[in-house]
Amino acid sequence: MKLEDFISAASFELHQEVTWQAPSNIALIKYWGKYGEQLPKNPSLSFTLNQCVTTTTIDCQPNSSGRLSFSFEFEGQAAPEFHPKIDQFFQRIIPFQPWLKQHHLNIKSSNSFPHSSGIASSASAMAALSIGLMDLERQGGAAISESYFYQKASFLARLGSGSAARSVQGPLCVWGETPSIPESSDLFAHPISTSVHPSFQDYQDAVLLIDKGTKVVSSSQGHALMEGHPFAERRFEQAHQQLALLKRAIETGAVEQFIRVVESEALTLHAMMMTSQPYFILMHPNTLAVIHKVWEYRKANTSALCFTLDAGANVHLLYPKAEKEKVNDFIARELSVFCQSGQYILDEVGSGVKKV
Ligand code: DP6
Repeated sequence: MKLEDFISAASFELHQEVTWQAPSNIALIKYWGKYGEQLPKNPSLSFTLNQCVTTTTIDCQPNSSGRLSFSFEFEGQAAPEFHPKIDQFFQRIIPFQPWLKQHHLNIKSSNSFPHSSGIASSASAMAALSIGLMDLERQGGAAISESYFYQKASFLARLGSGSAARSVQGPLCVWGETPSIPESSDLFAHPISTSVHPSFQDYQDAVLLIDKGTKVVSSSQGHALMEGHPFAERRFEQAHQQLALLKRAIETGAVEQFIRVVESEALTLHAMMMTSQPYFILMHPNTLAVIHKVWEYRKANTSALCFTLDAGANVHLLYPKAEKEKVNDFIARELSVFCQSGQYILDEVGSGVKKV
């Protein structure tokens, strides 16, 4: 698929309301560094989550002004603070959905997880909005195949937030062209469900909320700091190699290899932050305390428990369903003390967007 394939020629006037739910995702191979219009400097691969979701209703009405207009409510309240981000998103996607210019959209959105939890909500939010827009495009009469529907939703979501491209489908999605996955693309994420070993189909993700405060450096600023970063080029190459290793581990059920790559990626992401100019640290002392506890736990038990980190202090713990009871008990007894207000979220791998 090329960029031009995503330009819709459809022109219509629609009175229609749609509601879609999209999950968050957790990257195993990290996207860190971008160029052009939301294109990744390296490929990434993620587990799609199940419980951490954004639900978005779009009420679409004809508008004769020739310019798209919208209103936005978050959790039942007008939320003007989100307007600049949504406005930028629409400016980017209008060339691909010109029918938007004939409409006014009333958008209402809410999250299943606390907004202040530090969980990246932009991925689920942009994915929910994008899939809703694709539903409207389809209802407007555009001839759309099933695969194009999801690919273009991922393409649009990417223009809102890079990692959102990976929140449309599941349980594992790759975004960014890489030789080990010939179907991969920089333009949208691709699900790799067919070749996932059973060991990885029911993975659990416990999100430990270590620090719910606002991050000192946003993801956008962090991506920008990869420009001119002394280790950037080597890191981008490494992501391709790690992705190939991880893909093989996921196909063959090689749990130890999976752990080695996933934990290395988490620490590499934070190493890139610590070696940026200006340098910064998003981990918290409790992030490190949890990491050491996980390593001790693995030493003392036959366990596949491992950790990954997003661009913040929170820790995601990944483990097979077979270990759910034991690990959840370990979290409650020994790790919840490191969480802000003792809070954590138990989630698992999911399959992507759902129409409500
Ligand atoms: C560390 O997708 O939030 O979570 O494209 O600027 O919206 P923008 O960035 P964003 O970056 C996510 C970075 C990450 C790694 C990942 O999810 O792959």
